[in-house]
Amino acid sequence: MSRLVVVSNRVADPRKTAAGGLAVALADVLNSTGGMWFGWSGKVIEAADGGKPGEARQHTQQAGPVKLVTLDLSREDHDAFYVGYSNGVLWPVFHYRLDLADFDAGYVAGYRRVNQLFARKLKPLLQPDDVVWVHDYHLIPLAAELRALGCGHRIGYFLHIPLPPSLIMAAIPGHDWLIRALFAYDLVGFQSRGDLRHFDRYVEAEAGAQRLGDDGRWRAFNRTVQACAFPIGIDVEEFQALTDAPEAREMFERMRKEYSRRKLLVGVDRLDYSKGLPQRLKAFRELLKSYPEHRDSATLIQIASPSREDVTAYTDILHELESLCGSINGNFGELDWMPVRYIHRTVARPRLPGLYRASRVGVVTPLRDGMNLVAKEFIAAQDPADPGVLVLSRFAGVAEQLPDALLVNPYDIEGTANAIHLALTMPVEERRVRHQSQMAVIKKYDVHWWCQSFLDTLAKAEAEVTGTP
Ligand code: G6P
Repeated sequence: MSRLVVVSNRVADPRKTAAGGLAVALADVLNSTGGMWFGWSGKVIEAADGGKPGEARQHTQQAGPVKLVTLDLSREDHDAFYVGYSNGVLWPVFHYRLDLADFDAGYVAGYRRVNQLFARKLKPLLQPDDVVWVHDYHLIPLAAELRALGCGHRIGYFLHIPLPPSLIMAAIPGHDWLIRALFAYDLVGFQSRGDLRHFDRYVEAEAGAQRLGDDGRWRAFNRTVQACAFPIGIDVEEFQALTDAPEAREMFERMRKEYSRRKLLVGVDRLDYSKGLPQRLKAFRELLKSYPEHRDSATLIQIASPSREDVTAYTDILHELESLCGSINGNFGELDWMPVRYIHRTVARPRLPGLYRASRVGVVTPLRDGMNLVAKEFIAAQDPADPGVLVLSRFAGVAEQLPDALLVNPYDIEGTANAIHLALTMPVEERRVRHQSQMAVIKKYDVHWWCQSFLDTLAKAEAEVTGTP
């Protein structure tokens, strides 16, 4: 069996319970197959301490069956590659927020430089039969850089965030270079059928690509790439075991006791403008305004873990949220009831399932999201006999898979408030039916399915050992 080499910007120790999302999913895969995980160490070396652009200190560590190889980046590379291009250009544009994009020629140069650096450092570590799996928007051109160094391995790529339509992509100077770089991979995976459609239309209309058959293969730039949708899942069994573990149980009991005569709503997100947090708070305010029966009862616990604080757009939203929470609590709160509990910290992952299970409503209302695994974790943590209800944005990739959630348009504040009211008052029979069908989906398309179907497709893809796009 080939060794698996995973490459992603963030690398987590697969032996530890990681923070969620991509890291959890990848840790799961590597723990079972062994292999290597390559990426950024999370450390930045200042110029005064010897940090130079295009150079990196490399660390190697054995974590059980997995070899972790990480690079420290120089301040200049970090600021251009991570803060500048990845999170100041690609993240906002891929989440349809052209207004927040900060185009700068220095950023794209830094992005290329770090991708070249990754390729240069990774190439000598590869064994001939390795299968390489590259993740997310930080590393789109990595395969092209590896191919330029003569690397003939099978290389797959998975985009964890949405891919917007070509007219939005076109706002990125040099966008055609990014899409062309995807042709250096043998397989490219997206979260949803919608994202895949955007890719298909882009390559057909803008790159003159030719479709080869009906299995997602496209020919352009003298290379063939296969493009498919592989919606990412969670490890349902692991999450249910976490729900039954003492830390989650204790959290559940505490919440149930404290809110015994009230109904809890829960939101758990990174503090990111794509998550629709101000809109969510406004919808909650609208609920309290339009449905007075929920006053002194419905309580929203919103956890917003700090994220990317060196990007300006993230600090702007922080102030908006604090002021909204303050005004809702000021206008509706009672001496013994605060409508919103806003927590701007990371809550330990083992406690989350208890919080989800104690909540009547899970509010997952991003303005755009590649998938959103909180939605799946909320479902997995519920008591099937008395489950909570998921209020879900139709703009999250997961909405394609969960038509039985209460789907909302998060920009429609009144519509979202009405859906939350429906969720709070839904009879138990209906809650059970909806929960059952959602459980079936998240169990069938769990993280093992995601990983296996991607790697099986990659193993069968027509690998072209030569040529750069
Ligand atoms: C999203 C991205 C990941 C990223 C994570 C945390 O889930 O798809 O690639 O690692 O956010 O963001 P950060 O910038 O802290 O790595």
